Amino acid sequence: MVKPKGLASRLMLAQVLVLVASILTAGLVALFVGPPLFHQHLLESGHSDDSPELVHIEQAYRDASVVSLGVALIIALVCAAAVTWYVTRRLQAPLVVLTDAARELSRGHLATRVPESGSGTELNALGGAFNLMAGQLEQTEDTRRRLLSDLAHELRTPITTLKLCCEGLRDGVTPWDERTDRIMTEQTDRLARLSEDIDDVSRAQEGRMALEKDVVPVGELVWSASQTQREAFTRRGVNLVAEAESAPGVAVFVDRRRMGQVLDNLLGNALRHTPEGGSVRLFARQTSNEVEIVIADTGEGIPPHQLAHVFERFYRGDTARDRDRGGSGIGLTISRAIVDAHGGGLTASSDGSGRGATFTVALPVSPRSPLASSSRPRAEH
Ligand SMILES: Nc1ncnc2c1ncn2[C@@H]1O[C@H](COP(=O)(O)OP(=O)(O)OP(=O)(O)O)[C@@H](O)[C@H]1O
Ligand SMILES: [Mg+2]
Repeated sequence: MVKPKGLASRLMLAQVLVLVASILTAGLVALFVGPPLFHQHLLESGHSDDSPELVHIEQAYRDASVVSLGVALIIALVCAAAVTWYVTRRLQAPLVVLTDAARELSRGHLATRVPESGSGTELNALGGAFNLMAGQLEQTEDTRRRLLSDLAHELRTPITTLKLCCEGLRDGVTPWDERTDRIMTEQTDRLARLSEDIDDVSRAQEGRMALEKDVVPVGELVWSASQTQREAFTRRGVNLVAEAESAPGVAVFVDRRRMGQVLDNLLGNALRHTPEGGSVRLFARQTSNEVEIVIADTGEGIPPHQLAHVFERFYRGDTARDRDRGGSGIGLTISRAIVDAHGGGLTASSDGSGRGATFTVALPVSPRSPLASSSRPRAEH
């Protein structure tokens, strides 16, 4: 089997080939073109064809040519070897580092990074690209690990409840009555919703969520979200104030269904955390190059230490945990991922416990929006 050649041998071979070609050309010229020309010049300068000096001078010319070509060949060979050694060393060191790092990465050591090599722009760019790839792999792996542990934690409660119910039924301790039926239905629904939510959140966070974008007037989003939730609000005695005309003529380029899902989540949260008699306001306002859809409630609010965590997967505030076991703490994670996928942002603010909460969806204004180019003043509310 032919052993593959290393970088140094290939480089040296290439240099030797160039050298041989140059020396051959120079030798042939010195042998076949130089002497007749020289001879011609000697004759023109007055030497006769059979003079002994002519033979002597021509011999000297040939000797000088051979010596200078020989010396040039040796010096060129030494230079080629030196250049090969230097270039190979400069290239080999970072390549060895990169190869080792790639091996480490393949063994699962995802924190491996390569230092900047200083061996030229291309190798630095290669190192940078490698580090970027390693960083993304590490992040994906970290997300996967956390997702699995969060998921295992979330699955435990409904599975334990279902298991206890089944055991009770089998042993005849628990009767099959309305209560057992309700518990079992609730827990299976919870499992089903969990699996849907997880699928949604991982799709959105990994950018795999297919968005069917359309130019949609903001007022239409506000109006249809309020229509979907109105009945639930009436049933719970919470006032829903939806201002569909708060940003007239402004449109966004969004997936209507997904954005509906976001507003539904936010209104659902507001309703869940606003006691009877309270109110929730839904409106839009245009800022310089964005439009904001705001959901502001007068409910129980969010304490400052919880505010930073509400968008985390499976995070539930204390009140949500005690009062309502239905929520899995994933609604805001999905909502933020969907808004991010539209190039926007979702933020929360609250003046603290008991002082209401405000969620703001910021979206870029669609260039096809009729009023997008005009600089409208900020709407007053
Ligand atoms: N309007 C709000 N007022 C007060 N707290 C809120 C409000 N919206 C969200 N929260 C807090 O943020 C937490 C996370 O909300 P998120 O929507 O992600 O989960 P959830 O509503 O508990 O469950 P899910 O949405 O999965 O059914 C909630 O548990 C609650 O503590
Ligand atoms: Mg929610």
